[in-house]
Amino acid sequence: MKDIKELGEPVFSRGLENIYFTQTELSYIDGKAGKLYYVGIPIEELAEKSSFEEVAFLLLHRRLPTKKELEEFDRKLKENRRVRVEKIASFANYPRDAHPMAALRTAISEIGLFDPTAEDLSPESLYEKSVSLIAKFPTVVAALRRLREGKLPIEPRDDLSHAANFFYMMNGYEPSPEQERALDVALILHADHGMNASTFTALVIAATDSDIYSAIVGAIGALKGPRHGGANERVLKMIRDIESPEQVPEWFKQKLEKKERIMGMGHRVYKAYDPRARILKRYAAEMVKAHGMSREYEILVAIEKEAEKYLAPKGIYPNVDFYSGVVYSDLGFPIEFFTPIFAVARVAGWTAHILEYKEKDDRLIRPRAQYTGELDKPYVPVDER
Ligand code: ACO
Repeated sequence: MKDIKELGEPVFSRGLENIYFTQTELSYIDGKAGKLYYVGIPIEELAEKSSFEEVAFLLLHRRLPTKKELEEFDRKLKENRRVRVEKIASFANYPRDAHPMAALRTAISEIGLFDPTAEDLSPESLYEKSVSLIAKFPTVVAALRRLREGKLPIEPRDDLSHAANFFYMMNGYEPSPEQERALDVALILHADHGMNASTFTALVIAATDSDIYSAIVGAIGALKGPRHGGANERVLKMIRDIESPEQVPEWFKQKLEKKERIMGMGHRVYKAYDPRARILKRYAAEMVKAHGMSREYEILVAIEKEAEKYLAPKGIYPNVDFYSGVVYSDLGFPIEFFTPIFAVARVAGWTAHILEYKEKDDRLIRPRAQYTGELDKPYVPVDER
């Protein structure tokens, strides 16, 4: 045990910026160069050659699977896709106008409530629950969408990949190979991202030796915020009133004058172009080209052009949320489900970080807040105040 004096004065860092509190082998962001790696593999390689299933294995095991291991992992995911009918029936009671992230938070909490192994913190049980959560998130999100639209949820299909099955349960029909690939790539790109706010939230909860469901529910709450995952739905909402790309320069000027933020731009770590945004922009371009250029895509490109002049010199570039909405819209997903789709991918990162932290570090996370008030003030009785 370290003597408290040995620690010296606490370091002050607003918002914990630029602080390492643990070590990880999961993902690395080179914020200056605009590069991202999962377990050392460049994200571009994974987006081109891998699948979400393989990336989930990579994160949980911190290595690529053999062919046989991947087949077994895929089978395990499929076995875990189903959510009990009683749970789905309970989701049907959620208010339809509640935000889908609030509904997802409640649904995952309910699943945890009924899991008799919830309090088992052994590595084996945490791994089993991680796989189960990764497998069930698409089923839950799709059921929430269908119920919200007054439709019956669709049972998962075991002959479809993770991405194709998610698309199928969301829309009620199978995706084309191009749609399946686009969704698979979007899931790969969102699967992990260093010590982001939701992953940190998950670790803070898991490090108290609370159950994994509590950690994931906390992470969902953090991802919901518009400064984090909630930005993707705000991007399309932000451009609702812009009728054409020609209006963008004036709109942009006004935004800057009012000191309003451009959603989907800027990042705590990247001070260069987010590599995930580059890949999603390419997919968005291809998809809208196939279906006739979309107004949204053209407007976003025009905003990016303005941002190059005014925001890039400050290190502000498009982040992953900037073009993802165009891809999701093209896949038939409603705006308010953009952040739950993000969660479907990120649950792989959340659970992988929990497993890694519990295995290697497992220390209570407890920073300090610098006290700036007065001391030794007299207690004034209530009648004399
Ligand atoms: N539009 C305009 N200006 C911006 C933006 C933006 N999107 N982001 C940052 N800035 C400016 C700030 O106004 C500030 O300028 P100033 O120094 O002149 O006051 C400067 O850049 C630094 O901003 P901070 O808030 O200190 O940067 P921080 O690291 O705290 O913020 C954040 C990061 C929250 C992501 C921010 O860039 C933002 O609000 N972006 C919009 C929301 C968004 O897209 N979030 C998704 C992030 S990716 C993800 O979580 C999946």
